[in-house]
Amino acid sequence: MTAPRRAGATGSDRPRARGEILEPLRLLAHAGADHTPVVVTSGEVGERLGVSQQAAARYLVELERRGLVVRSLANRRQRLQLTPAAMELLRAEYRDYRRLFEGPARATISGEVASGLGEGRYYLSQPGYVVQFTERLGYSPYPGTLNVRVRASESRRLAVLRDWNGLRIDGFEAGGRTFGGATCYPAKLNGRRCHLIRPDRSHYQDVIEFVAPERLRSRLRLQDGDVVKADLEER
Ligand code: CDP
Repeated sequence: MTAPRRAGATGSDRPRARGEILEPLRLLAHAGADHTPVVVTSGEVGERLGVSQQAAARYLVELERRGLVVRSLANRRQRLQLTPAAMELLRAEYRDYRRLFEGPARATISGEVASGLGEGRYYLSQPGYVVQFTERLGYSPYPGTLNVRVRASESRRLAVLRDWNGLRIDGFEAGGRTFGGATCYPAKLNGRRCHLIRPDRSHYQDVIEFVAPERLRSRLRLQDGDVVKADLEER
C-alpha cells in the first residue's frame, strides 16, 4: 500500500496554518498598519511571533500573495500596510469570539411595508440563488422580497449587522450576467419566520428586504404603509 499523496503539501503551495496568517495580521493591526504603513524587519516580526526570521519572512510573502498586505522593501526593512481584505479576516475572527462569549446578537427593527420595482421576483427565481437559499436557509423561498422602509434613525442601527454572523449567499454568473452575493440573517416578521437579506451591492439605504418560505403579504394581510416589526437574530 502506498501512502496517499498530499497534493500541494510542499513548497509555496503548502496549505498554511490559520495562525500563520492571523497572527501576523493581528500583530500588524496592533501596530496601526490598518491605516498607515509600518516599517519593520522580518526579524522583528519573527521575534514578536516567536518564530525564526526566515519563517516570518515567508509569512509576510504569503500575506502579500493573498492580497492581505501591500508590501514594499527598503534597506532590508519592509513597509507593510493591511488591505481591507485583511481587516475583514480579522473582523470575522472578532465576530466568532463575540458569538462564542456573548451568544447570538439580537435586534428589533420596525418600518412600513413598501413596494419595490418587482426585481425581487426576478432574482429569487434564478436557479443559482434558489439552490443556495434552499440549502442554506432550509426552505425554498417565495419568489420575491418583502420590502420594509425604515426611518433613518433605525437604518443607522443596522450598521451592527456588519459584526454579526450571517448566512452567505454567493454571487455567480449565468447567461452572461453577474449576480451579486448577499448575507441573510434569521428573522421573525410579525412572528413569521423569514430572513433579512442584505445584498452586497444594495442601492437602498432606508429599505430592508425579507425572504420567506411563504408570501408574507397574504399570510399577514399586509398592504403598503402597514407597520411591521422584525426581530432579528444572529446566525
Ligand atoms: O419589488 P417588490 O418588492 O415590489 O416585488 P418582488 O420582490 O418581486 O415581490 C413580489 C411581491 O411579493 C411584492 O408585493 C412583495 O411585497 C411580496 N412578497 C411577499 O409578500 N412575501 C415574500 N416572502 C416575498 C415577497
